[in-house]
Amino acid sequence: MFKSKNFLKAGVMGFPIKHSLSPLMHNYWFKEKNINGSYVPILTKPADLEIALESLQSLGFSGCNLTIPLKEIALKFIDEFDEVAKIIGAVNCVTVKPNGTLYGTNYDWLGFINALKYEFPNLNLEKKKVSLIGAGGSSRAICFGLLKEGVSQIRIVNRTREKAEILSSDFGPRLKVFEWEQRNSSLDNTDLLVNTTNQGMETENKLDLSLEALPKKAIVYDIIYNPLETPLLKEAKSRGNKTINGLSMLVHQAIPAWSQWFGKTPEISEDLLKVLRKSI
Ligand code: ATR
Repeated sequence: MFKSKNFLKAGVMGFPIKHSLSPLMHNYWFKEKNINGSYVPILTKPADLEIALESLQSLGFSGCNLTIPLKEIALKFIDEFDEVAKIIGAVNCVTVKPNGTLYGTNYDWLGFINALKYEFPNLNLEKKKVSLIGAGGSSRAICFGLLKEGVSQIRIVNRTREKAEILSSDFGPRLKVFEWEQRNSSLDNTDLLVNTTNQGMETENKLDLSLEALPKKAIVYDIIYNPLETPLLKEAKSRGNKTINGLSMLVHQAIPAWSQWFGKTPEISEDLLKVLRKSI
């Protein structure tokens, strides 16, 4: 598939898009591997998504990533998508097939799981109990990944309970819905706490959650990467919990996408993480 004389192209569509770290990361890999290519941000309003996707082939793109707010609506415009995208209900990676058709999948779940394995190589998620805060698109992808890894229970807490109920009915009995008011006590006896809400982002309030009931041995995972250390992670670290932020998840969802588009598998490295951290 790979020919060195080709100029390889891919990009990320979203609205807004200028803060995306994906171009920096993908272009780092082109440079590192001495491959001619470019990965570009493509500002795309939801109303323009269909035409933007259609234009990928004529522009010579191998594919693209999709980010907020396009991941869910993209299912309507993709020719073919896999079971994973169907179950998660969102596409984050589109590949232009040789015959021009668009193939969609979702690697957010894999990014989440592989980042956890990268940072905690001895962790075995089988039979572990997880507390998940939030029930949006990311939470759905993460539930898919955690269930695949064999966790015994996912306690799900969301400000809007109905959304947590939908997740629970879609993913089955290992998901247990708690009231938003029960969020603090629901952390009791948990092995992994995950924040999938936007609370704690640079522009948002901190997540309103007390860690008092959380065992000290639990890992705390905040999928936010800007800031790299949210107030939740800071507090968790100060009480002795191990922590992980969303940066390595971002890299790990990009690895299979790059490999699918260009036929070569890039690696995560401390140097790449350093470059990304510096740009935040
Ligand atoms: P993503 O695709 O990143 O998951 P999303 O689908 O918009 O984004 O989901 C955002 C999540 O953050 C939701 O769980 C949302 O809760 P609601 O379902 O009640 O909207 C959660 N969230 C957003 N603002 C919040 C706040 N102020 N307090 C608690 N949760 C919040």
